[in-house]
Amino acid sequence: MKVYLTQFVKKITNPERNPRLFPSEQERCGAEQAVAEPVHAGSCAGARPESFHLPVGRAKAHYVRSMFACIASRYDLLNTILSFNQHHAWRRLTVKLLRVQPGQLCLDVCTGTGDFAIELARATGAQGRVIGADFCEPMIRSGQSKVRRQTGGVVRMTVADAECLPYASGLFDVVTVGFGVRNVVDLEKAVAEMVRVVKPGGRVGILEFNRPPAVWYRPFVDFYLFQVLPRVGGLFGRRDAYTYLPESMKSFVSREELAACMTRAGLDDIQIYDLNFGTVCIHTGVKRMEPRL
Ligand SMILES: C[S@@+](CC[C@H](N)C(=O)[O-])C[C@H]1O[C@@H](n2cnc3c(N)ncnc32)[C@H](O)[C@@H]1O
Repeated sequence: MKVYLTQFVKKITNPERNPRLFPSEQERCGAEQAVAEPVHAGSCAGARPESFHLPVGRAKAHYVRSMFACIASRYDLLNTILSFNQHHAWRRLTVKLLRVQPGQLCLDVCTGTGDFAIELARATGAQGRVIGADFCEPMIRSGQSKVRRQTGGVVRMTVADAECLPYASGLFDVVTVGFGVRNVVDLEKAVAEMVRVVKPGGRVGILEFNRPPAVWYRPFVDFYLFQVLPRVGGLFGRRDAYTYLPESMKSFVSREELAACMTRAGLDDIQIYDLNFGTVCIHTGVKRMEPRL
């Protein structure tokens, strides 16, 4: 079954059979680079799937920023296709689990095109304020008009690094991140920053892909991640970006390790919610109250 499926996917995504669906490297990146280059001069081509090695340290930050700059204009569309349009519901559920209240001040880091910020704004209402922060300006720019249209100005989109947030400690009621922590260079630092800027008693929510706990389900997930996803990404000229995604998922920490990291950063009452057989995970935590002297 797996062999047939693999052959079928290979056939429909073969550039020689479908040359119009597969732009050349130059065609693929040329248009996007015109947008991306003034901000971040990175290669759209990235690593070849056959020789993909996840970059580390500063090279990872550079790679991630350049890659998202490249896919910014098609990020929303690909998100919708590849998640079978479930991604909005995942963020909405996270906001619900975090019990976001009208009038609150919220921060969404690694906000990308701002979908999480939009969900937060729906919950905080006209009296609330939401900041969406991302270190990739083309992603912010790409989402700006959508965010304005859907929230009427309560969301401010800004360029900021999740590992070094430009906000005072204890400022926000709620801090979220969606599909972002997998991409940062130093996970401990990013989570510690999220916890630093939230108020004592405030909540932090992390929505992220993870490995499904059920072993029997993993071959299906691997097939989707390593066979289908890069090829569908390739149809949109973004094969390298959608090769990075499964590789980054594979090397990401387990749900238990992420929970432990949140505890170390100063969160209590960590709850883990598995969606889609555990391929998508929501972690929530409450910032510890400062000890009274
Ligand atoms: C997969 S996208 C997720 C976007 C959005 N949160 C969503 O739910 O669709 C990951 C985002 O994380 C951003 N990112 C990665 N590392 C970052 C960092 N250190 N600081 C800020 N943003 C970062 C990328 O630029 C990208 O926009």
